[in-house]
Amino acid sequence: MKPFVNLAGQRDAYREELEKAERSVLDSGCYIGGPEVSELERELGEFCGGISAITCASGTDALTIALMALGLKPEDEVIVPDFTFIAPAECVTFLGGIPRFADIDPETLQIDPESVKARIGPKTRGIIGVDLFGQCAPFTELRRIADKHGLWVIEDAAQAFGATAGTQHACTFGDISITSFYPSKPLGCYGDGGALFTQNNELATKIRQIANHGSRERYLHETVGMNSRLDALQAAVLRVKLRHLEEELKVRRENARKYDEFFASTGAKIVPQKIARGNTSTYAQYTVLADDREAFIKKLDKAGIPHCIHYPQALHEQPCFIKFLSDYVPAPLYGTRGIARTISENENRHAERAAELVVSLPVCAFTDVDFIINKLRSVL
Ligand SMILES: Cc1ncc(COP(=O)(O)O)c(C=O)c1O
Repeated sequence: MKPFVNLAGQRDAYREELEKAERSVLDSGCYIGGPEVSELERELGEFCGGISAITCASGTDALTIALMALGLKPEDEVIVPDFTFIAPAECVTFLGGIPRFADIDPETLQIDPESVKARIGPKTRGIIGVDLFGQCAPFTELRRIADKHGLWVIEDAAQAFGATAGTQHACTFGDISITSFYPSKPLGCYGDGGALFTQNNELATKIRQIANHGSRERYLHETVGMNSRLDALQAAVLRVKLRHLEEELKVRRENARKYDEFFASTGAKIVPQKIARGNTSTYAQYTVLADDREAFIKKLDKAGIPHCIHYPQALHEQPCFIKFLSDYVPAPLYGTRGIARTISENENRHAERAAELVVSLPVCAFTDVDFIINKLRSVL
C-alpha cells in the first residue's frame, strides 16, 4: 500500500537542495537559533503578508505559549471547536483553564459561531478557531463575537499555513495565530516544530520571552517560561520546503478538485468537506463524509487505498474532558468515572455526526490521485 502522505517522494524531489541545506547547518556548529532560524522567521512573516513570526518546538507548544502570553489563568474558560485534534482543548486544560466545546457547521466542519455565542459566560476569556483540514475558520464572525464580549481570538492554523480567506492569509486572523511543522503538515519539517504569528509587538516580545525560559536577557528570568525552540536543522529544511509550498498547494488543490469531480459523478453518498466561498484550503486533509463509512472503508481496503479517520470522536466525548462538561455529575458510588448526561454542551450533534462519518484520503502533492480515482471507480 502507498503511504498516506508521500514524504519520501517529496524528499526525492528536493534531495539536492535539502542535502545542501542540511550539510551547511551540520558543518556550521550552530544548531539552535542562529541565522537559519531568524531567516525562516523573516520568510514566514513575509509569506503571510508582513507579520511577526516566532518559531518554537511544536504546534502544541505554540498554543500553550499563546495562551500564556494572553494571560490565561486557572478556571478561565476558552471556547474551542468540538471536532478537531485534541491540542487546543488540551493546552487550555494543561494551564488550568476550562475548555468549552462549540459545535461545528455540518458542511464546512468549522466551528459554528452560533454555538460559540451559546457557550459564552462570565468566565469566558477567548476563542480558539481551528482552520480544520486547511480551511480558515469563520474569523469575521468569530472576531465580531470576540469584540462584542471583550474576548481574544487565537487562530490555530496548524493545518493551514498557506491557506487564504478573501485576500488575507491564514496565520493573520488571531490576536495570536499558530502553526505546526509536524512532518505530514503541508509545510512540515523532519521532527517537531511550530510557529506563532502576531501583529502586536508587545505580544511578540512576550512570546519570545516565554519560549525562551521567560528570559529576554541571558540568565535574567522575568517570568517563568519554557524551553521551546526550533532547531537550526529544521529551519533549514523548512526554508527549502517553503520555496516549493505554493507549487505544492496548487497540486493539492488540483488533486482535491479531481476527487470532488469524481465523488459528484458517483451515486455514492460520499460528500467532501465544503470549502466556503472565498476560501482556499491547503488540503492538509482531503476529508469526505461517507453515509456508510464502514462499507466505504471496506472498499478502500479492497482497492489498497490508504485512508485515515480525522477524528473518530468529538472532543467532548474524550474521557479526559468529561469532567469539564457543564453538566458533569461524578458517579457517586462507582469509583472514578464521571457520568456526563446528555444536555447542552454534549449535544454537539454535528461534531458527533462528523466523527461518525469522516474519512480522509491521500492528497499530498506527491500522490497519484488519478491512479487512486481509477481504483475507486472499480470498487464504488
Ligand atoms: C489543529 C491542530 N492543532 C494543533 C496541533 C499540534 O501540532 P503539533 O503536532 O506540532 O504539536 C495539530 C497537530 O496535528 C493540529 O492538527
